[in-house]
Amino acid sequence: MSTTLIAPSVLASDFGNLQRDVEMINQSEADWFHIDIMDGVFVPNISFGMPVLKAISQHATKTIDVHLMIVDPDRYIKEFAALGANILTVHYEACTHLHRTLQAIKAEGMKAGVAINPHTSVDLLKDVIKDIDLVCIMSVNPGFGGQSFIENTFKKVQKLKEIIITNNAPTLIEIDGGVTDKNAAELSNAGADVLVAGSFVFKSDDQPETIKNLRSIANS
Ligand code: DX5
Ligand code: ZN
Repeated sequence: MSTTLIAPSVLASDFGNLQRDVEMINQSEADWFHIDIMDGVFVPNISFGMPVLKAISQHATKTIDVHLMIVDPDRYIKEFAALGANILTVHYEACTHLHRTLQAIKAEGMKAGVAINPHTSVDLLKDVIKDIDLVCIMSVNPGFGGQSFIENTFKKVQKLKEIIITNNAPTLIEIDGGVTDKNAAELSNAGADVLVAGSFVFKSDDQPETIKNLRSIANS
């Protein structure tokens, strides 16, 4: 079985000490940086935007996984590529022409991701699954860190895994929201490839140790 990756969410970091927290992730056993961009329209919160992403990518030494919680993401694809995004994830619910958006992301040299809200069925991705490098299953309603994990996510992971296997697609499954040491192993066993963890990492006393433990639980 392939390794389950850990992507700490910078949303939960201390923005007053951003470089320190980026360095912590660099030095830790984390695999990716997860960067949440919110516009206050698609979700009821505003996080941070391009200048902050630029600052992060100047110091980050690992894959930068950008999760756009914004309407009409097509407007900014080129800018995110220029800012160092390696994976650009848009929301299914925010894209009228999802297939076109995925091609536009790949044309800029990035991996193309699609995030789905808790109410969105994985079945809706069937016809484009081969074009998707990563599906981000939201296990909370997007907009805020620190929420409780929605249990129905396990079923969605299993169902999506079946769709990926049936279609012989290269797609990774990422889980975002409420990930802890309590659900990491079950998520990984259900088929998750990447676990995003915000509060669980940044609210802990020993963050590198928490990342290390989470990674080891997810791969146990
Ligand atoms: C929520 C974001 C998540 C968030 C996860 O809208 O997409 O990436 O940072 O935070 P936790 O792990 O605290 O649920
Ligand atoms: Zn996210």
